[in-house]
Amino acid sequence: MREVRLNNGVMMPPVGFGVYQIDKNETKAAVLEALEVGYRMIDTAASYFNEREVGEAIRESGLPRESVFVTSKLWVQDYEYDDALRAFDRSLSELGLDYIDLYLLHKPYGNYYAAWRALERLHKEGRIRAIGVTSFSNERLQDLFLHNEIKPAVNQIETHPFQQQKDANAFLKAEGIVHEAWAPFAEGQKGIFTNSVLTEIAASHCKSVAAVILRWLNQRGVVVIPKSIRADRIRENFNIFDFRLSDAEMAAISALDEKKSPIYDDMDLATVRAIGTYKIHD
Ligand SMILES: NC(=O)c1ccc[n+]([C@@H]2O[C@H](COP(=O)([O-])OP(=O)(O)OC[C@H]3O[C@@H](n4cnc5c(N)ncnc54)[C@H](OP(=O)(O)O)[C@@H]3O)[C@@H](O)[C@H]2O)c1
Repeated sequence: MREVRLNNGVMMPPVGFGVYQIDKNETKAAVLEALEVGYRMIDTAASYFNEREVGEAIRESGLPRESVFVTSKLWVQDYEYDDALRAFDRSLSELGLDYIDLYLLHKPYGNYYAAWRALERLHKEGRIRAIGVTSFSNERLQDLFLHNEIKPAVNQIETHPFQQQKDANAFLKAEGIVHEAWAPFAEGQKGIFTNSVLTEIAASHCKSVAAVILRWLNQRGVVVIPKSIRADRIRENFNIFDFRLSDAEMAAISALDEKKSPIYDDMDLATVRAIGTYKIHD
């Protein structure tokens, strides 16, 4: 999978650069490095507090605006209709852009129906090229697009060898919605980089475990947005098209699925309370 066509015809790169948990003081350099290596998609969010530095890096890179696919996300605090419109303007102004390529509802909590209608309006006004969601279960996603006009183009969900999201992948494929993986490396949990199945496959291709994971996701039709602040890893995570995993290797990785998150469960009560009420501004 080299490029992805979204359900409204917009083209999306298969590999992007995630900037979650990158300190704002390190963001510009990391994004500049990624753009230099060849990444043409950056994934940020209002709640990452580094949209400004992402925008600065894009401008400083000298690349034409239309050659970089920019994703940002609306936080739950701003899910009422008018709040969502205001929050979008804030993100745009932080980024220093006049449109966003992909704008996502960041969590499946709160008044996401009102928020979705605000996104539909912004999309119709040409200020967002495609709209989508993150961390939505199949059921919530199905309900959302049954009761609204525009079907989400993307669902960005935690996906890695220990939480493979096979049911979600099948549903999203059937509905023509792109499956995008967050935390492709499980944020380093559970010894993912020293897992014996993954290290063996990596050694046989002279690639890193990280590259094997990203290639495995790509061969499943999943868009990836790995994060790193290290130049060598930023490069390594981008070079995933010079090898191919066999069916047997795909099956061996498939068998690692534990079907649960080592990071957090979005439907856990404590998570719903904590994340659902987290404020990112006054
Ligand atoms: N929608 C959501 O709710 C949501 C949630 C989480 C993440 N995301 C998005 O998904 C992106 C990726 O997820 P993530 O940042 O949470 O986690 P991740 O990409 O799974 O893992 C990042 C960790 O892996 C390390 N790493 C990166 N490349 C490596 C390599 N080649 N070899 C060894 N270690 C490597 C990084 O360390 P170094 O930086 O030190 O290299 C960092 O500790 C985020 O940046 C964000 O854009 C979205």
